[in-house]
Amino acid sequence: MKGIILAGGSGTRLSPSTDSMNKHLLPVYDKPMIYYPLSVLMLGGIKEVMIISTPEDIARFETLLGDGSALGIQIVYKEQAEPKGIPEALILGEEFTGKDDVTLILADNIFFGQGFTTLLRNAIKNHQHATVFGYRVKDPERFGVVEFDHHQKAISIEEKPDDPKSDFAVTGLYIYDSRAVKIAKKLKPSERGELEITDLNKEYLKWNQLHVELLGRGFAWMDTGTQESLFDAAEFIKTTQQRQGFKIACLEEIAFYLGYISRDILYEKGKSMEKTDYGQYLIEIANRKHSQQYWDTIDHHPMLGLVENE
Ligand code: DAU
Repeated sequence: MKGIILAGGSGTRLSPSTDSMNKHLLPVYDKPMIYYPLSVLMLGGIKEVMIISTPEDIARFETLLGDGSALGIQIVYKEQAEPKGIPEALILGEEFTGKDDVTLILADNIFFGQGFTTLLRNAIKNHQHATVFGYRVKDPERFGVVEFDHHQKAISIEEKPDDPKSDFAVTGLYIYDSRAVKIAKKLKPSERGELEITDLNKEYLKWNQLHVELLGRGFAWMDTGTQESLFDAAEFIKTTQQRQGFKIACLEEIAFYLGYISRDILYEKGKSMEKTDYGQYLIEIANRKHSQQYWDTIDHHPMLGLVENE
């Protein structure tokens, strides 16, 4: 399974904050936005990741995350010349994904909740064809919306409908088989001039090959596409982290607990930014005795709300 993070776009809805800066590098409280989707892929067990962004911004992502080796993963980069639509990510990633399945995540999406990693890992393990994740929202007209029959089987998907047929938004996390590239290449731009991910999902639905995994009320899903939602997300992260004393989407912590980096590397990374709360947190974890064994032996890891026995 390969992973793609789509981090381009024009970011016009966040102007002037994004006039000279890619939206996905803006902080969501104490870390850049892209940390959140990257943490999702890492928690899903994905070690080969492609980050797609604009020609102007791609070098900044590279400065931030490098080739991924500091996290024990591989990251490659690809430019998207213009924001021609989400399915274009699959086309741009064609060589990178090859015959593998791919998990695509939008870089402005944040997922959090007890058991999310288990749910994602199971979805990746069991998936055939296409899997998307549905989440109940108050404003479905802002999203792709999925409608279900009485057996909770998806029967329609519409992009930003005026009159939504349900309250279930399709989140920006998608798992596809290798056919997705071919389907993406055949899509025609919508009225807003973009290839629509909803049109790609509709193709799978037509063949009865779209699985919708529902995220229940115990989950938080946020997209940070507007000033308001970005602020809400930052507040949520701040409140949750301060209350529990655990960080959400701390990439080095995840890499350490997954066994990708050593305690020494974690400590060094913390030392390199020890003036920050983030750096102090890494040092604290590195200094915690038996933390690796703790991770290995318990079912529900207290930091991430997940089940890990692998
Ligand atoms: O967040 C979930 C929603 O994302 C889904 O419910 C919708 O079905 C899906 O179309 C998408 O809707 P948005 O209106 O939020 O898409 P937006 O154009 O804002 O792009 C989402 C992210 O992808 C954003 O961070 C920018 C990036 N992007 C977008 C396009 C169209 C790119 O990097 N390149 C692109 O060409």
